[in-house]
Formats: sequence, structure tokens, C-alpha cells
Amino acid sequence: MRIVIAKSYEDMSANAARMVAGQLYLKPNSVLGLATGSTPLNMYQELIKIHHEVSLDFSEVVTFNLDEYLGLKPEDENSYHFYMFQNFFKHINIQRNNIYIPNGLAQNIPAECQDYERKIQEQGGIDLQVLGIGVNGHIGFNEPDINFEAVTHKVKLDEETINVNARFFANIEEVPRYAISMGIKTIMNAKKILLLANGVSKAEALYRTIYKGITPETPASILQLHPDVTIIAEEGAAKLLRSATHDRTNLGFASE
Ligand code: PGA
Repeated sequence: MRIVIAKSYEDMSANAARMVAGQLYLKPNSVLGLATGSTPLNMYQELIKIHHEVSLDFSEVVTFNLDEYLGLKPEDENSYHFYMFQNFFKHINIQRNNIYIPNGLAQNIPAECQDYERKIQEQGGIDLQVLGIGVNGHIGFNEPDINFEAVTHKVKLDEETINVNARFFANIEEVPRYAISMGIKTIMNAKKILLLANGVSKAEALYRTIYKGITPETPASILQLHPDVTIIAEEGAAKLLRSATHDRTNLGFASE
């Protein structure tokens, strides 16, 4: 694991955008795995800026989103379809048919999940997967006690996740209880992983991810076994890491 500590959210985002842009310069037809939530918002803004300022080209890029709520229409402001188009896709030159997001309205959920997994394989697998991390250590919507062997599947959201995500909805009752999420196995099959963590609320989960044993109680801890993981953590999220030492990690400082 390569761990980069950024001095601010903006610094974390700029570093993440540079890593994604670097991937696209090296391989313009990269397959990106993308995340939603508060954390990557500024990274998407930075990528849009790079697209406009130095013509970073998305015309051959293929994207697969990590997850989508069950039961929300794509035009629902809380759906991840809406988030992705609003915050990223409509501002860049990506082709509509190169965008994949699980269909939260699918009638046959197992078939939708299988189909999603098959499409990832058909595109040659994910080159770079961007991840956030939940306060409970989830990645995608793979909540604690997840089966590490799972591929894309229907998940039941954790109470903690429902509480945390309620801030985006009119009230907590409106937060969907189920979602479709890439599984841990899908994520682990990505060639490279970039995990972003912002804010002190993530400090404990990040510490457990890196320094504690690999356990389904901290789904992100499985990343210790992935050969190419970069973690960019803003200082607050990294506050428990500075004093820790471990020979599996290589601490770097983005702002220095
Ligand atoms: P956040 O969510 O970026 O909104 O904090 C991250 C996650 O739950 O994976």
C-alpha cells in the first residue's frame, strides 16, 4: 500500500485527479471504476478542469460505477445516476454508451447483477478503481460482515450507512434500504485501486483498514492483499496513521 497524506481536502482531490489523469494519458481507453458520495466531488471538479484546460480526453474511456440505490429513478436527485451526470459526465466528452451504472429499477435484480459483472469482464476488467470509505469501513456498499467472495449483488444497507446518508434526503425514511453494489471480489479484481479518505470521521476506519487484521468487520481491510493500492488521505482522516509504523506501508506527504 502506498499512503499519501494530503494537507487538505483540495490537496487530496488534486492528487487524486492527477493520478486518474495520468492513467488516462498512459491508456486513453482505460476502464475506470467510479465512486459517489461527498469525498470524490472535488476530484471530479479537478478532472473537469484538466479536461477543459489541457484537453484531457474521455472519448475512449469506459466507466463502471460502484453502486446504485434500489428503487430510485435515474432522474431522482439522490440516485447515483443523477450524481454522476450532474457532477461529472455532462461536463466531459465521455460517450453515453461507455457509461455503466447498475440499474436500481431492474425487475430481475440477480440478472442485472450478473449482467453488470459480465460487462466489466467484456471491457477487459477495471484498470483503476476509485473508492471512498464509509465510517464503518465499507467500500462500495459492502457493509461490515460482507462475504469477501461476493461479486456484484444486492445489498442491505447498514443502519450506520442509512444514518450517515440521510443528510442527502428530506428525511431518514426516504433513504433506500437496499442497493446494488460491486462486490469485494469485483473491486479486488481491479488492476489498480485509489482510495480517498477525507475528514476525522474516517480516521478510525482508515486506521483499521491499514493496521488491523483483515476482517469482514472492516471490509476495506481486504485491500491489504491487493498488489497496487494508493490511499490518499486528508490530514484529519490520517490522524491515527502518523504515529503508526508498519513495514507494509510507505507513507508519503502530498503537500511536502
Ligand atoms: P462519503 O461516503 O464520501 O459521502 O463520505 C463514502 C462512502 O460511504 O463510501
